[in-house]
Amino acid sequence: MNTSFPMIAKTFQGLEEVLAKELTQIGASSIELGRRMVSFSGDKETLYRANFCLRTAIRVLIPIHEFTAENPDQVYNEIKAMDWSQYLNTRKSFAIDSVVFSEKFRHSKFVAYRVKDAIVDHFREREGKRPSVRINNPDLSLNIHIADTTCTLSLDSSGESLHRRGYRQEATIAPLNEILAAGIILLTGWKGDCDFIDPMCGSGTFPIEAALIARNISPGIFRKQFAFEKWADFDQDLFDSIYNDDSQERDFNHKIYAYDIDPKAVEIAIQNAKMAGAIKDIEFKTQSFQHFEQPEQKSILITNPPYGERIAPRDLEGLYNMIGERLKHAFTGGEAWVLSYKEECFDSIGLKPSGRMKLFNGPLECELRKYEIFDGSYKGFREDGGKRTSFKKKKYFSSNSDRKGGRPQQKNRSNKNSYQSNRGKRRDYEN
Ligand SMILES: C[S@@+](CC[C@H](N)C(=O)[O-])C[C@H]1O[C@@H](n2cnc3c(N)ncnc32)[C@H](O)[C@@H]1O
Repeated sequence: MNTSFPMIAKTFQGLEEVLAKELTQIGASSIELGRRMVSFSGDKETLYRANFCLRTAIRVLIPIHEFTAENPDQVYNEIKAMDWSQYLNTRKSFAIDSVVFSEKFRHSKFVAYRVKDAIVDHFREREGKRPSVRINNPDLSLNIHIADTTCTLSLDSSGESLHRRGYRQEATIAPLNEILAAGIILLTGWKGDCDFIDPMCGSGTFPIEAALIARNISPGIFRKQFAFEKWADFDQDLFDSIYNDDSQERDFNHKIYAYDIDPKAVEIAIQNAKMAGAIKDIEFKTQSFQHFEQPEQKSILITNPPYGERIAPRDLEGLYNMIGERLKHAFTGGEAWVLSYKEECFDSIGLKPSGRMKLFNGPLECELRKYEIFDGSYKGFREDGGKRTSFKKKKYFSSNSDRKGGRPQQKNRSNKNSYQSNRGKRRDYEN
């Protein structure tokens, strides 16, 4: 696979443009936005970089067979007739993930089951033996996607969802998905050019992702494994060169502040930040937002307060009232971004947003609102009663000359080994 081939990076709805921009930066070509996905082309290096560097991709797929089918038996026949020898043999294990949006195929699990049968029967009829099915850590992860009657079978090069960066040891009750957190920070345009504050940091996802963005550290550095590392054509030297290339990392001369009212949450966030090597950039404190004071330096504030779903504060309206009051009186001149869920929460903030955008946090349709807190006058502080502005579309597409990577510099992989010892515990969260 040294020549260019088509790939698909999946993401959350609302992050497609940010992902497309990230793809230009790793040198991908033929980038096209879809719904919750971006298609692109590239070679094996692009594939490895996509898994290792992208902050907003959930997984990276390589389509290997596209066909139309009206029912599961047609899917079975198509899959069984494929030349499987280049991907699997009877000593290997495989797993299938299915995603179905179709009136004709109502049960995605049944589709996965028929694909599994087709592969097993393919080998059994030829060799009298079959590869095994293994859900955890299989040799080959496959993905079948059906939209109406269009079926796409893909190799899943990532395996576990890429939000499982590997630095999160423990989570609080309602942790934000790492991909969503990174995507939101990238959407705001912050790259480490001023201080960063999350006054309700929970397990620390925003501050940690912010530290990685500020220093341009690839999120894949903490990860235990990518599915492509088990493929027959895996190029260890190429992957090592990407892994060990820190030429794009940069200095960060500002500070990240992370607060939470819950001391246990702060403790967890500190542990996670240590795992991510981000502890030097983040100042943690147990502090309620009620006690938030005007920062000395220019800052951006990004936070997701409780929305009353998994965390139910007794007085949600009062909490959001207080957030509005603190932003107005203790964040003058700053830019605040709030991710929340219910309209009445935003209403209780009582400030006029200068931007808003829908984003999905798991199944919840949330909104990200931007507040620019002006000094003194009422301008910008009016009740959010009518006119709303929407986010300006950014020009995300630029030429491949934007590519920052260059050829990687080889260096010792000892860094990786020090992270490896910290690997293992994972949080349950699937997209
Ligand atoms: C939805 S969670 C934030 C999740 C976080 N982004 C993460 O990834 O783990 C909301 C957090 O707000 C905190 N919180 C609630 N009321 C607060 C207050 N008045 N001041 C500061 N933090 C508060 C909770 O303890 C909780 O950790």
